[in-house]
Amino acid sequence: MKAIEGRLVTPQGVRPGRVLIEHGRIAAVDDLTTPVPPGVPVVAARDAYVLPGLIDPHVHFRTPGLTHKEDWGHGSRAAVAGGVTTVMDMPNTRPASFTAKALIDKAALIEGRSLVDFAFHIGVDPEHPEALADLDTGTARSAKIFMAGHHTAPAVLSDPAALDTAFAAAARSGVRVVLHAEDGGLFDLLDAWWGEPGGYRDYEARRPRTGGIAAVAKVIELVRRHGTAAHVLHLSSAEEADLVCAAQAAGLPVTFELTGHHLSFTDADTCRVGARTRLAPAIRGVRDQDRLWRAVFGEQAATLGSDHAPHTVAEKTRSVADSPPGLPGVQELATAVWTGMRRRAPEEDADAAIGRLVRLMASGPADLFGLPGKGRITPGADADLVLFAPDDTWMFSAAQVRSKCGWSAYEGWTMTGRVRRTFRRGEQVFDAATGAYGAPDGAWLR
Ligand code: DOR
Ligand code: ZN
Repeated sequence: MKAIEGRLVTPQGVRPGRVLIEHGRIAAVDDLTTPVPPGVPVVAARDAYVLPGLIDPHVHFRTPGLTHKEDWGHGSRAAVAGGVTTVMDMPNTRPASFTAKALIDKAALIEGRSLVDFAFHIGVDPEHPEALADLDTGTARSAKIFMAGHHTAPAVLSDPAALDTAFAAAARSGVRVVLHAEDGGLFDLLDAWWGEPGGYRDYEARRPRTGGIAAVAKVIELVRRHGTAAHVLHLSSAEEADLVCAAQAAGLPVTFELTGHHLSFTDADTCRVGARTRLAPAIRGVRDQDRLWRAVFGEQAATLGSDHAPHTVAEKTRSVADSPPGLPGVQELATAVWTGMRRRAPEEDADAAIGRLVRLMASGPADLFGLPGKGRITPGADADLVLFAPDDTWMFSAAQVRSKCGWSAYEGWTMTGRVRRTFRRGEQVFDAATGAYGAPDGAWLR
């Protein structure tokens, strides 16, 4: 048994207390009036919050086939350094994870290499959208549809009849679809009309909001027709946010994710720094960024995700047309969002703010994707816990990047809030003071 004491962020609010841990689970949560049982070691968080382990439901850890960009050793070290103890991995690997067998093979490759627990999104094979009807939701928590493609997402499901089949099949098996909702056909038209982009100033205009709006409208129509539960990933524009909120208000089972990068950067940054913030969907303007932040403060978003999608420096320094979209972010997500939240509303009560971060990054994704034992500090839950110092101010530099790619779009940022220690199932997996990691024995949640 061991105990962790501090300002616990629980579903009932923030309060000073103690978590007692036994066999990797939370045995009890109590206040500090009772004595610690004799012989039980105590970790004191002091001025730090004790958060439930955070969940990043959107990572690309690149196994199998793309491990020159990222692997589970590096990716999961980045995760625990960012307070993340559970990740959900995306299927656009080589080969793509289109079948239960592919996921079982992937889990075998990860075994003994991951500091974090993990679950999978299965890919929807454009050739076999009907296969979703028989999906085993134990093997895959949800099914990912790329409505538009790009360098690392070659398998696109954009044919209207195939989309209709996929949504109908998913509704039948009760699986949630998660979507990269952009209309690639519109982008092809624009590329053909305008020709090669001359520089990053031209990038957002070639991957504009119209692509996202058209696709989100299509998703809403399919949800209306079939009743399929749909989660739109990495929403980038004000209009898409309004559309999904309106559909939700009308009672449709559609939700959305926001990423750290769409909250942290604008198209002016892409113009300045280039490939580092070249993303799909593209990062848009200040008005969009403000609208997305409103969806954070108002908790209209269901989840936050990093879309951790590293590429090598060599890949990112190709021409504008050839440089792949994506950035690392699992390590940066919680601190970047916390930093943004404190800067945008410095007068807000910190306990209220941290409660929101935990709902968006722990209990929210646990509930949406059905991850029992995750996302809450409550008796019986897995003892995934993070000591998070909310007022620590520090500068993020390339030397601190844990991702295999070795760079970050957040280099040079002055961060507010720092992860001091991370525990997964009661075992310490990260200590910022020593730089030590724990055992890479994270489990597949199935
Ligand atoms: O920017 C992106 N990169 N968006 C995606 O949808 C996929 C990702 C990747 O895999 O590189
Ligand atoms: Zn992604």
